Amino acid sequence: MSAAVKEVKRMTTHVIRNMKAQGEKISMLTAYDYSMARILDEAGIDMLLVGDSASNVMAGHETTLPITLDQMIYHAQSVIRAVKRSLVVVDLPFGSYQGNSMKALDSAIRIMKESGAHSVKLEGGEEIVDSIKRILSAGIPVMGHLGLTPQSIYKFGTYTVRAKKEDEATKLMEDAKLLEETGCFAIVLEKIPAALGKKVSESISIPTIGIGAGPYTDGQVLVSHDLLGITKDFKPRFLRRYLELYDMIKGAAQEYSADVKSGGFPNEKEQY
Ligand code: KIV
Repeated sequence: MSAAVKEVKRMTTHVIRNMKAQGEKISMLTAYDYSMARILDEAGIDMLLVGDSASNVMAGHETTLPITLDQMIYHAQSVIRAVKRSLVVVDLPFGSYQGNSMKALDSAIRIMKESGAHSVKLEGGEEIVDSIKRILSAGIPVMGHLGLTPQSIYKFGTYTVRAKKEDEATKLMEDAKLLEETGCFAIVLEKIPAALGKKVSESISIPTIGIGAGPYTDGQVLVSHDLLGITKDFKPRFLRRYLELYDMIKGAAQEYSADVKSGGFPNEKEQY
């Protein structure tokens, strides 16, 4: 354990920023419910993201667009009840902050007040900077999100690697600088070339948290359901599966069903 997180009882945005200064990598995973959040918090994951990917992995939608602010608050409340140490970041969902900084502030305040979360995350750069400023003015920590921004999927049409072209890479660099200057405490970089992830991470003082952005970012984030192999067909190059829970859970359910049908469950010890 490094100096930055030594004896830290609770992760804060201050500790997260310090970790970059001390050269310590930051771990982040998504969590949407109490049971999973409890395990990930106990495992020592530095930050838990109540991501709008809940729209995909929890609700089965094709995109992140349908999830509502009320639903995000419900997920955040469940996560917060479990957490003792991790810093909890909650995504502002599509339609709750774009183009209207007062609405953005209202949405962020609802998340903080009704869930007890510690910070919010917004997708985008220069085009949403007014919303970020207003949220920050209320004392709410903000994490940025650049590169592949899934809430804009209908603008781009695909989930392919972003900022491969020079003009897009330049805009991303400028946006990262702007988010730093505006006061974001960290930035997620999603699905960009590793070389660009390195360049951005070296050019700003706040931590970058990569997902498909190579090994040089200051931290990494994955969707827990992907890392655990609960999602089945999603296999991007950047994903490392640490378990294959889909098949394990299916196998356990099949075994249970067979036991019920054969009368093997419950046995003598499993009854009153
Ligand atoms: O919603 C989410 O899970 C995210 C991560 C992919 C960073 O934003």
